[in-house]
Amino acid sequence: MMQKKRVELPLLISLFVCCCFSGTAFTQIKTIPLETRHHALVLQVSDQNDVHITYLGRRLNQATEYGIIPDAYKQHTDYTGLLNSAYTPSGSRNLLEPAISVTHADGNNSLDLRYVSHEIQQLADGISLLKVALKDPVYPFEVILYYKAYFNDDVVEQWSEIKHEERGTVTLHKFASANLHLKASAYWLRQYYGDWAREMQPEEERLTHGIKVLDSKLGTRTNLFQPPVFMVSLDRPATEHEGEVLLGSLQWSGNFRTDLELDPQNNLRIISGINNYASDYSLEKGEIFTTPIFMYTFSAEGKGLASRNLHNWARNYKLLDGNGQRLTLLNNWEATYFDFNEDKLKALLKDTKKLGVDLFLLDDGWFANKYPRNGDTAGLGDWEENRSKLPNGIGTLVKEASANGVKFGIWIEPEMVNPKSELYETHPDWVIKQPKRDEYYFRNQLVLDLSNPEVQDFVFGVIDDLFTQNPDLAYIKWDCNAVIYNTYSAHLDNQSHLYIEYVRGLYKVLERVRSKYPTVPMMLCSGGGGRVDYAALQYFTEYWPSDNTDPMERIFIQWENSYFYPAIASANHVTDWGKQPIKFRTDVAMMGKLGFDIVIDHLNDNDLAFCQNAVQTYNGIKGTIWHGDQYRLTHPRENSVASMLFVDKAKEKGVLFNYLVNNRYDEGSHLPVKLEGLDPERNYRISEINLYPGTSSPINHEQVYSGDFLMKIGFNPQVRKGRESVILQLEAE
Ligand code: DGJ
Repeated sequence: MMQKKRVELPLLISLFVCCCFSGTAFTQIKTIPLETRHHALVLQVSDQNDVHITYLGRRLNQATEYGIIPDAYKQHTDYTGLLNSAYTPSGSRNLLEPAISVTHADGNNSLDLRYVSHEIQQLADGISLLKVALKDPVYPFEVILYYKAYFNDDVVEQWSEIKHEERGTVTLHKFASANLHLKASAYWLRQYYGDWAREMQPEEERLTHGIKVLDSKLGTRTNLFQPPVFMVSLDRPATEHEGEVLLGSLQWSGNFRTDLELDPQNNLRIISGINNYASDYSLEKGEIFTTPIFMYTFSAEGKGLASRNLHNWARNYKLLDGNGQRLTLLNNWEATYFDFNEDKLKALLKDTKKLGVDLFLLDDGWFANKYPRNGDTAGLGDWEENRSKLPNGIGTLVKEASANGVKFGIWIEPEMVNPKSELYETHPDWVIKQPKRDEYYFRNQLVLDLSNPEVQDFVFGVIDDLFTQNPDLAYIKWDCNAVIYNTYSAHLDNQSHLYIEYVRGLYKVLERVRSKYPTVPMMLCSGGGGRVDYAALQYFTEYWPSDNTDPMERIFIQWENSYFYPAIASANHVTDWGKQPIKFRTDVAMMGKLGFDIVIDHLNDNDLAFCQNAVQTYNGIKGTIWHGDQYRLTHPRENSVASMLFVDKAKEKGVLFNYLVNNRYDEGSHLPVKLEGLDPERNYRISEINLYPGTSSPINHEQVYSGDFLMKIGFNPQVRKGRESVILQLEAE
């Protein structure tokens, strides 16, 4: 007997249930669609109780039809019954890349995972959680798959819990967070590579058969060569507006690994999780291993919509204070490097006030006495004020800032140590290094062993002491410059746990920081953009995309980051990198959270007046940039003019940034740029803002345009030589 019924869950997941009775055996669920507003992920339980992914794509109008999707495909034989497994075990029938592989307590390497049960919970309005329990029929070994759906944003987070009741320890050799399966005629992968000052360089290619691996083995600063974010387009390369595309990433601030395997049936298997490189994990009886979250969003209308969905999701659920405010600032790193004293800083505090920004940020070099931090070769780890630079301590500066009507923030790099430091002398056992090998340094420093609870206490203490001694401290820049070499912990018995325990230790510290100091803004910095991911961003209000602040480079770096992270999280500073005029540099930095890192005293009168006005102008438009919708109109890699638009949610205000990115003869905006996200029925007035003193705009701000006109015909920002950077403001009538 076959019964079918669609359970109309008020929430987000609809459940199409097939119940089969055979004798006394009762095989329940067959098809489990996980729906968001426009997208569905469909799991199906086979008659063998294997759990398959049978669909990932656009939501169907009739949920009952999810069950018949497999019939539409007449692909080659799957000899294993596991090619589209929702969590591929290894050592039994599997022939391709597994999501999990283990050695059982008895030394056996085989694993099979069969469906046991599932349940759906509504966690909050618009958020539901599907749990699918799997079990090995032979060994007491279980995996629970979690799928958390954010209905409105078309975002799904996936993770797994692994546990066993075997007599002894089970070794996990691979332990993925997610195992997806896509069907299309072809697949294009957009991935990123980089290095210091060259973050987020894109590469897009058609995937061929075999496995493409995106990964990091750096331990800390894990994004230095490759970040975990990627896109996969189905059938053809997605554009900004068209095509089916999945944007995905792992939420983990350590080694990651994503396998993209085009299988013999021409389907794409995506397996993502902590990198299992040098990380066999010994799982004790009863212990639960929870993987980090893999997240994705799926759009059938191109990359633009996918990124806006991610931005909304991030601001609402992940990024700390994602819908809140941010502080504009003046940073002293490039203005002084290590060469400053109290008087110099007091002058910079006055400059902060003069510039009109909210906060002064004191960067590296303020600490250490026995081995003063006068360069990057010494002092890291010794977090007491340097007495010759700051004889009256940080407290005096915090007070002085307040007397100037600005706030005070400070740089730290608490996970690291210079060998030339008192910390290293006192606690060599707190340092990650091989006991029998020569030390090897990255920026003359080593990484502290955060797997050790004493080190966690120390790192928490660095922040806690700063706030205890200076309660008015208003901002932290948390840096992380070194990778892990010579991976060895004097604390751990099991060395293959170190990469994982390091990150767990880091999160424990950040949890403690946030439970005691929940709101203080913190910048996630890692020698540039070496460590941005959504696990870390739960504790940080912003990230530093790159030390490369040449605005031409930043247009490209910020552009690629903007697919994955909202503008409110992007800390952009005006510096002396690049040869562009101050207006160009400032305009580019405004496409996120604005800061300055220049010597205000060196600015001529016009440049100073421009910067002061720019801060005021920014204060008027920052709400739209931080909380609005972002539209990439013309791409700097494909056009001579790059145009980026932000529109507020009410479609009343917009800010359009335009840059000349090709300096060849006669390059410029010969065509109007088609706007997006406006109300076609409303009229908008467009005016140029952030003009340099003494210049005027050719834009006629008296002319009113309908949203319909601006989206169908467009608007010409008149970018050309001499007008390399143009910011336009849109205001609905
Ligand atoms: C690397 C960061 O990315 C820079 O902004 C600066 O803070 C230096 N570290 C300080 O050492």
